[in-house]
Amino acid sequence: MPLDLPDRRATRRDLPWPTRGLAYGGDYNPEQWPESVQREDVALMREAGVNLVTLGVFSWGHLEVADGEWELGWLDRVLDRLHENEIMVDLATPSAAPPIWLHRAHPEILPVSRTGVRYAQGGRLGWCPSSPVFRRYAVRMASVLAARYGDHPAVRMWHVGNEFGGGNRHCYCDVSAAHFRSWLTDRYGDVTTLNAAWGTAFWGHRYGSIDEVLPPRDSESAANPSLLLDFDRFSSDALLADYQAERDAVREHVRDRPVTTNFMVQEGPGVVDHAAWSEHVDIRANDHYLIADDPLPEEEWAFGADRMRGLDPSRPWLLMEHSTSAVNWQPRNRSKAPGELMRHSLTHVARGADGALFFQWRQSVQGAEQFHSAMLPHAGTRTKVWQEVVELGQAMRALGEVAGSTVAPAPVALLYDDVAGWAWQRGQKPHHDLSAAHAARDLHRALWRRGVTCDIVPPHADLSGRAVVLVPALYLTDDATAAAVASAAASGARVLVTYLSGTVDPDDRVRTGGYAGAFAALCGVYVEEFFVLQHHETVAVRTADGHAGTARDWTERVHADDATVLGTYAEGHLAGLPAWTRRAVGAGAAWYLSARLAESTLTRVVDDVLADAGLTAPAQAAPGIEVVRRVGEGRSWMFLINHTDRDVPVAATGHELLTRQDVAGSLTIPAGAVRAVREADRAG
Ligand code: GLA
Repeated sequence: MPLDLPDRRATRRDLPWPTRGLAYGGDYNPEQWPESVQREDVALMREAGVNLVTLGVFSWGHLEVADGEWELGWLDRVLDRLHENEIMVDLATPSAAPPIWLHRAHPEILPVSRTGVRYAQGGRLGWCPSSPVFRRYAVRMASVLAARYGDHPAVRMWHVGNEFGGGNRHCYCDVSAAHFRSWLTDRYGDVTTLNAAWGTAFWGHRYGSIDEVLPPRDSESAANPSLLLDFDRFSSDALLADYQAERDAVREHVRDRPVTTNFMVQEGPGVVDHAAWSEHVDIRANDHYLIADDPLPEEEWAFGADRMRGLDPSRPWLLMEHSTSAVNWQPRNRSKAPGELMRHSLTHVARGADGALFFQWRQSVQGAEQFHSAMLPHAGTRTKVWQEVVELGQAMRALGEVAGSTVAPAPVALLYDDVAGWAWQRGQKPHHDLSAAHAARDLHRALWRRGVTCDIVPPHADLSGRAVVLVPALYLTDDATAAAVASAAASGARVLVTYLSGTVDPDDRVRTGGYAGAFAALCGVYVEEFFVLQHHETVAVRTADGHAGTARDWTERVHADDATVLGTYAEGHLAGLPAWTRRAVGAGAAWYLSARLAESTLTRVVDDVLADAGLTAPAQAAPGIEVVRRVGEGRSWMFLINHTDRDVPVAATGHELLTRQDVAGSLTIPAGAVRAVREADRAG
């Protein structure tokens, strides 16, 4: 039986934040420990300043010990103990970890891989997003917990499941296939429309009926990219329906507490469509982990935070999980350097998070995550990690007054879309090593170095009032987005569109008449052909005023039909042709960038766009100093993060919250430290 499609019930915006001030704490998994340790946990939580824990995320097998048989006494005791100690609880519905008895009774709920293999019990998220059997059990479990704990005074928020799709993103079983066909019927209505949307004339793959469609199961040759893309869209919606079913079961019993789940917004396209999901959580929450081999991790933290904020810049969000030090799931799991924990956490607070939580409170001694760092490490409290956890707890209390404020309106919007990212990622493409994230990070990095704040927003975001709109590698673009970008330019924005943007429509159909199709007229360019570069290749470029630069990875054969050429290719097949251009549009302008430029060359282009828009970097944004301002209720706070190994003086006047000092004119940010100044000279 196909399941219901997701309903569209909106976010409840006016529910109270789960803590007073900023939230601080982490996932708490007390079932792994005897009660004596649990008592110690609470004492140490108080020492660390923990005020919120996410409880029970993986506890299903300890709560429902057999079908319909509940053992809730231990959870009662944990909740009461936390309440007595004034530690609030974000109570999870533990659907991310179905119990072994459920898998044994209903192995059909386990997802099936592309190759037709049904996964086995013993992992996480071992359930098919379309399974009505799983849904029934999950909803029953959520109802039992919500009915029992809905009024518990410690429970201030509900956390449905965990990282939906992070282990069961795609299921290729027959139940999923039927659900997919029902989703397609809803989207296309009839098979003729579907055939046209997917271009099934290619290879003669026309369907006689929607009933003939299968998920993109394993095959030796390439699949239809439109089918792949729709399967991604469907999978996100199927998971959303699961989230909604559990959320609604919780809401039956709990009307005045926010319900959410944790996203995985980092640099790449998500496992779900976060912009669509964002409308269905009461508080937006994210898990953000250090990527050990990222050459500039601090910029990636800012990128993730700017993406989360961009989902709705008008409200604070929550950093639901990050790590105190190393994770355990990358090839080489780097520990955090001294001070890095504070910088990572407060980067998110500076960029709009009203809390910083971790996976997890106490480091496990057994199980799959035994070598993942935690707030309380294996070695105990005589450790760098514990000391920094306590210091961070003090910092979060000292910063309490920023709670409820938001980041000062960002002059720049950067368009970024999970769905467009999937479209570029799936199927055979001109370049398989270049992702949308590369283009987006390149531009974001240039702004980050200048201290210019940028909201990373979904394509349908309101662009009015933005001085600059960046459109990096937005491969799939619908007409409405293209029109909104054009209208932003006409109203005065400086728009920068890069290579790959506007190439295909929402059906994944190439827009003909020249690439950059959706933006070609706006930018006044005609892109004839892509010229992909190999790993070792670079191409010299030159600015109109004679500066030399470099392109790598991607170049294009472009003609400036109705635009001024600002940079040209200086060698190779494209020598003399435009590399980037500018076209005056109404009160603004549209730039087109056809190449992936080396950092110094791109910085020059971005500086020109900022100057064109009349934007200047804040005076405090010295090299390696991150500057972000939060504002609210007539006040403002300037966050300053020193990513360098030297002390740096900056201009500031007001009261510094972390050192509790008044500042008159100048403040030195010690090497690697963070400061937050309530400003005396600015109104919020
Ligand atoms: C995710 C999960 C956590 C944990 C961490 C490890 O964020 O939600 O349960 O597995 O990863 O980094």
